Amino acid sequence: MKTIVVLNGPNLNLLGKRQPQIYGHETLEDVTRLCEAACAENFDIRLLQSNHEGQIIDWIHEARETTCGMVINPAAFTHTSVAILDALNTYEPPVIEVHISQVHKREAFRHHSYVSHRADGVIAGLGIEGYAAGVRRICQLVERSTEAAT
Ligand code: DQA
Repeated sequence: MKTIVVLNGPNLNLLGKRQPQIYGHETLEDVTRLCEAACAENFDIRLLQSNHEGQIIDWIHEARETTCGMVINPAAFTHTSVAILDALNTYEPPVIEVHISQVHKREAFRHHSYVSHRADGVIAGLGIEGYAAGVRRICQLVERSTEAAT
């Protein structure tokens, strides 16, 4: 089994309750189910959420040895965290950045992402379906690189 880690930043534990007019009514459990349904056979999903920047950095470090790809919604840390960008720059497998909302239609401070300096793909505004699209892309990239190596 190859593991795809799905990392979520601050306030996403409240998904479904938090500003549903922006983020929808579905919860992180719904995101887990969607990601599990989206991933190809022989991949599994490890979904994690933290409100703490250091915890997210520790999980990125752990993921270096244990995962084949990452879908990350860094939430507000997207726009503030050079430390998360630096951690992602130590991570070699593919990274897809996901935002539930269409950040480019929102306040100007949400238009810049540090994480986009590293991400191999960026998805915004598809609601939680963006996570599934991210997982499908990781599976495709991992399968292609495995084929290229054989
Ligand atoms: C978000 C967008 C961010 O600007 C915001 O701080 C979040 C969630 C999104 O998924 O749309 O917390 O990453």
